[in-house]
Amino acid sequence: MKIRAVYPGTFDPVTNGHLDLIERSAKIFDEVIVAILRNTDKIPLFTVQERVRMLKEVVRGQKGVSVTTFGGLLVDFAVQTKASVIVRGIRAVSDYEYELQMALMNRRLSPHLETVFLMPAEAYSYLSSRLVKEISQLGGSVRGLVPPLVVRELQKKHQQSMRIREKHTK
Ligand code: PNS
Repeated sequence: MKIRAVYPGTFDPVTNGHLDLIERSAKIFDEVIVAILRNTDKIPLFTVQERVRMLKEVVRGQKGVSVTTFGGLLVDFAVQTKASVIVRGIRAVSDYEYELQMALMNRRLSPHLETVFLMPAEAYSYLSSRLVKEISQLGGSVRGLVPPLVVRELQKKHQQSMRIREKHTK
C-alpha cells in the first residue's frame, strides 16, 4: 500500500529547512503533498500564487513530491487527498508544545490520521521564515538559508516596497 503524506505550512517563503524536510519525507513516504495554507491569520509577504510558484520551482524533479494549496481544516484536506500522514518539522524543544497541541487536536478530529515529526539538519535548527524575512528586509544576507530563487524574490519584494515608500514620502 502506498503511503501519501501531507506537509502543510505557510511557507512564506520556503526555506532550506523546509526543503530539507521535504527531501527527508520523500525518502520515507511514496508521495508527499506540500500544502500551502491559503486562509492564514498572518499577513504574508508573498501571495499564495508566488509561494506556489517558488515551491514548485525548488522541488522540481523530486520524485513523488507535489505542491498545492488548501483552505479550511487540514484534516479535511488530508481526507480529500487520501493522505494518511501529516508531516511537521520540529527544530527545537520550543516547537514541541504547539506542535503537540496541533497533532493531538488533529488526531481528535481525524483519529486515523497520524502526525509524524521530523527533525531538519542541525544547520537549519534555528532557521525560520519569519527571521529570513526580517533579516532580508533589514539588508542582511540570507544566502545559504533559502534557495537562490528565494533570495532573488526577497530582494525584488523589498525593492518594490522601498519604491512604494519613496513614492509616498515625495
Ligand atoms: O507553517 P505554519 O504556519 O506553522 O503552518 C501551520 C498550519 C498551516 C499547519 C496550521 O495552521 C493548519 O493546519 N491550519 C489549517 C487549519 C486547521 O486545520 N486548524 C486546526 C489545527 S489543529
